[in-house]
Amino acid sequence: MQIIICKNYEEVSKKAAALIVKEMIVKPDLILGLATGSSPIGLYKNLIEAYQDELISFKDVKTFNLDEYIGIDRAHPESYYSFMNEHLFKYCDIKEEHINIPNNDITRIDDLAKEYNDLLFGNQRDIQILGIGSNGHIGFNEPGSSLSNQTFIVELDEQTRLDNSRFFGSIEDVPKFAITMGIKNIMYSKKIVLIASGKQKAEAVYKMAYGPIDTKVPSSILQLHPDCKVIIDEDAASLLPITSTFIEF
Ligand code: F6R
Repeated sequence: MQIIICKNYEEVSKKAAALIVKEMIVKPDLILGLATGSSPIGLYKNLIEAYQDELISFKDVKTFNLDEYIGIDRAHPESYYSFMNEHLFKYCDIKEEHINIPNNDITRIDDLAKEYNDLLFGNQRDIQILGIGSNGHIGFNEPGSSLSNQTFIVELDEQTRLDNSRFFGSIEDVPKFAITMGIKNIMYSKKIVLIASGKQKAEAVYKMAYGPIDTKVPSSILQLHPDCKVIIDEDAASLLPITSTFIEF
């Protein structure tokens, strides 16, 4: 795991975007794993700028999102489908058929996880973008879920629903279930870039990087990934026992 500490959210976003841009220039048909939430919004802004500056194109890029809520329609403004359109897709030349976001059609609930899982194994991600929950989750692999999970339907942790109520207005409106890539799918990506910022992530970041590998902190499994970069701001790094801005272990 490499940990790169930046001054603030803007620097985290720039650095993470620079990494992705480099990968897209080297491999224009990159298979990119995407995250939603507050953390990657700045990164996506920087990618849009790089696209507008004609440094990169998305026309041959394929994307696979980590997760999607179950219990709200894709057209709901807080669905991850809407999020991706709002924060990236509508501003670039990605082809509709190259966009993959877990289907959340509850009338087909029994088939959804297997279908997405099959797709994921046929399309190994070159690089996977991750955020981290304040409870240490990645994707929606909540504390206690198996580290050998493949795509599955998960009941969301109360902490996650509380954290995400900021998007919905009240916790009652946050869906109780989601479909998510499992840890096994995430670990199958060739490279991983995890971004985090803010004091509210400091404990999760500490446990992810320095704690034991434990189902209680699903992100701790990333210690075993051969190419995982963690790009965080000073607040998110505030509990780490280090002073340097770049550490590799
Ligand atoms: C989102 C996802 C989640 C978020 C995490 C952090 O697709 O899989 O793991 O990355 O909950 O969310 P933010 O960035 O909103 O703090």
